[in-house]
Amino acid sequence: MAVLVTGGAGYIGSHTCVELINAGIDIVIVDNFYNCKKSSIDRIRALVDRDFKYYECDIRDKEGMDKIFKAEKIDSVIHFAGLKAVGESVEKPLEYFDNNVNGTLVLLDVMRANGCKKIVFSSSATVYGMNNISPLTEDMPVGGVTNPYGRTKYMIECILQDLYTSDNSWSICLLRYFNPIGAHKSGTMGEDPNGIPNNLMPFITQVAIGKRDHLNVFGNDYATHDGTGIRDYIHVVDLALGHVKAVQKVEKDEGCFIYNLGTGKGYSVLDVVNAFEKASGVTIPFEIQPRRAGDIAICYSDPAKALRELGWKAERGLEEMCEDSWRWQSQNPNGYPD
Ligand code: NAD
Ligand code: UFG
Repeated sequence: MAVLVTGGAGYIGSHTCVELINAGIDIVIVDNFYNCKKSSIDRIRALVDRDFKYYECDIRDKEGMDKIFKAEKIDSVIHFAGLKAVGESVEKPLEYFDNNVNGTLVLLDVMRANGCKKIVFSSSATVYGMNNISPLTEDMPVGGVTNPYGRTKYMIECILQDLYTSDNSWSICLLRYFNPIGAHKSGTMGEDPNGIPNNLMPFITQVAIGKRDHLNVFGNDYATHDGTGIRDYIHVVDLALGHVKAVQKVEKDEGCFIYNLGTGKGYSVLDVVNAFEKASGVTIPFEIQPRRAGDIAICYSDPAKALRELGWKAERGLEEMCEDSWRWQSQNPNGYPD
């Protein structure tokens, strides 16, 4: 039996595939390679001692997905596939709802038709919206989201909860990620954004490698220790290990479970810049800019529930996240090869 990993060639998916195989779990990857290179599959292979299959398929392609379920023995699904750029989602809401929400509906329909009722879903801390006060706990109200991307995550959470209500034989795990950064220790796998990075760490590493001349810091007038925004950065390998625990949970227990995957610690933009400079020995020039629309001052998790129920907690600190991000960027200045 295998776990089908949708979006398994992407940033979080590829790291998760390595940790699943390390844990002795067979995988099958489905990706349409819209936001990644095929060479990421080779990099996964080089790190593991067990072969696996991958399919180039869009999750919205019902026939294609059905063929995969018929050809493989799929027991459960980890569903990463989706579009994730907040700004782009404001420009292209229909594409985001189609890819993320419709894609999930097609996937769930094909799963049900093939008797597969176990799914782990990539949700986001963005579902907590603007009004909850950190540390964020899973029982806080969700849905006050400010952009179409966030709304797709919230809508998919609602769909999965309604699905469980309608049929209690499903096992569903909603994982709310905080801010994944870092890379595999080998330096061979990491985050490889297209174009100008939206997120803080890939922007910093591109400044460090000389692709961009400075970092724009969005706002220094928040009510935080240095005025810059605070987030809960989590090492992508810790996040990947959280998925191993989550898939084991849905294999074992029926229910609809929700977990934060974060460290519980918040760092400001300037804390991250300082930690990165220390880890890399490279100075990061920055300029203070106005606040970015839609940003909140402080967002960090209470990760206690995941520890209590999954036995999972993040082990890697900010220094290690910075060291590993830098190793990946400096060894692969242009990301994955074509
Ligand atoms: P990513 O873009 O690197 O990975 C997503 C993968 O899905 C890509 O390889 C892409 O080619 C594939 N994909 C997209 N649409 C597809 C489709 N219709 N059919 C098949 N494959 C498709 O992104 P990531 O950072 O690895 O994120 C994975 C998931 O986690 C996403 O759902 C994202 O929204 C969610 N998430 C990410 C973050 C983050 O900061 N990276 C935070 C919270 C949640
Ligand atoms: N920031 C800068 N300069 C940059 C990029 C970011 O100062 O060039 C700041 C932001 O203002 C924020 C912090 O760095 O204070 C982190 O920003 P990111 O864009 O890296 O991350 P966000 O917390 O804004 O958003 C991320 C994902 C979303 C997800 C959200 C919650 O991009 O998809 O975490 O999980 F919804």
